[in-house]
Amino acid sequence: MAKTRVQFLCNHCGSVHPKWMGKCPDCGTWDALEEYKAPTVDARKPLKVGGSTGDVAQAAEAVAIADIDESDIPRTETGITEFDRILGGGIVPGSAVLVGGEPGIGKSTLLLQVANALAQSDDKILYVTSEESAKQTGLRASRLGVKSNNLLVLAETNVERILNQIGKIAPSVVVVDSIQMIYKPTLPAAPGSVTQLRDCCMDLVYLAKASGTAVIFVGHVTKAGTLAGPKIIEHIVDTVVYFEGDRFHSHRVVRCVKNRFGSTHEVGLFEMTGEGLIEVKDPGKLFLEQYGPGAQPSGTVITAAMQGSRVLLVEVQALTASSVIGAAKRKVSGVSADRVGMIIAVLEKRAEMRLAADDVFVNIAGGVKVAEPAADLAIALAIASAHMNRPLSPGTLAIGELGLGGEIRSVPQLENRLKEASRLGLGHAIVPHMGPSIPKLGGMALHEVRRLSQAMSSL
Ligand code: TYD
Ligand code: MG
Repeated sequence: MAKTRVQFLCNHCGSVHPKWMGKCPDCGTWDALEEYKAPTVDARKPLKVGGSTGDVAQAAEAVAIADIDESDIPRTETGITEFDRILGGGIVPGSAVLVGGEPGIGKSTLLLQVANALAQSDDKILYVTSEESAKQTGLRASRLGVKSNNLLVLAETNVERILNQIGKIAPSVVVVDSIQMIYKPTLPAAPGSVTQLRDCCMDLVYLAKASGTAVIFVGHVTKAGTLAGPKIIEHIVDTVVYFEGDRFHSHRVVRCVKNRFGSTHEVGLFEMTGEGLIEVKDPGKLFLEQYGPGAQPSGTVITAAMQGSRVLLVEVQALTASSVIGAAKRKVSGVSADRVGMIIAVLEKRAEMRLAADDVFVNIAGGVKVAEPAADLAIALAIASAHMNRPLSPGTLAIGELGLGGEIRSVPQLENRLKEASRLGLGHAIVPHMGPSIPKLGGMALHEVRRLSQAMSSL
């Protein structure tokens, strides 16, 4: 008989521990470990091989890896191109996708639109709403212009009844909005706890794999930690996408952080409007402020960031202000605080800029996140420009990684980044030294630099 072993699961990072501790040793969160009873097979019972057990008899045959064709993976395109892009070309039947994000950011809106787009074909789509009543979902649907006889709504929180309905309807895609409200009555744990979340998710994923129905889970990321977070089910599902940023900007950046069927870091861009989320297919200068002629303030520098396979032009903004002696603040948004700390140190040491007595603020306009070192040069120039109160000439792009010695290093996909900036009419770029491989870029003038000090001469 199956035995239950008690373990402790962190409701923040999902790591498993044999005993309870006040602080999770993996992620450092306090009071995050919760009891979890994982059913285990009895280790003393020998495994039947070649016997009549259903599982072994129906086991898949091993095949040569060379015989597996990538085109064998069928994908269902949703018709919402930006969503397909994040998933790597569409939904793979039998796969499980997790869509996470803060409450109110637009998860339900996006998935209702996706479900509607999918229901335009002859397949049945099931939308399980565990937070709202069917009426509320219907109201939202009519606001979004969603209407289809193939889109079925089920207001249910009991996972067994949901599985039952899936068995009856046999939909091609099931949306579970949200997984944190689903519970299994046979488990002693409370809804929203790690045990419930994991078990319900696993039950649905097993059904997905066995029946070929794709499951899309919605998971809330809560700062208060009252619900177990979606991190716990990240490793159970095939694809994980998160809404980035906050709901105060009208643009929504949806990023793929894990994908067993495609590349990660692919980004989808949407705009929240009165009629739901609208795709932004060509971001162009979306994230750039349009300053009047000669009105670009000091401390703003444009850079070209890779977001998955797409180039996005973003504006790095910096501000320096005199601080209380000995208590200088460094506050960042959209970039890594450690990276900015390093860039400030390089500016101090290699460009003789005194910033120790200044508060430094760095922000990426529009709520986008830029994690790559290719933005280093733009951040350094933005801080220097703010500090010296000298703006760059308008329409100047800066790309390059900054080394600790003050050298400017090359970055991946430089040519693609420059081509996009040139297409959008930027006239001037400060770039790492490229040697003879300079691309032809129409009207764009390139200023190649080897050191930070050379780049700063543009200010
Ligand atoms: P919602 O999808 O409910 O967020 P989540 O499921 O992630 O909690 O959307 C939340 C916000 O979106 C809500 O505050 C209202 C806004 N919204 C629009 O601006 N336009 C729309 O057409 C819809 C449906 C929602
Ligand atoms: Mg919702």
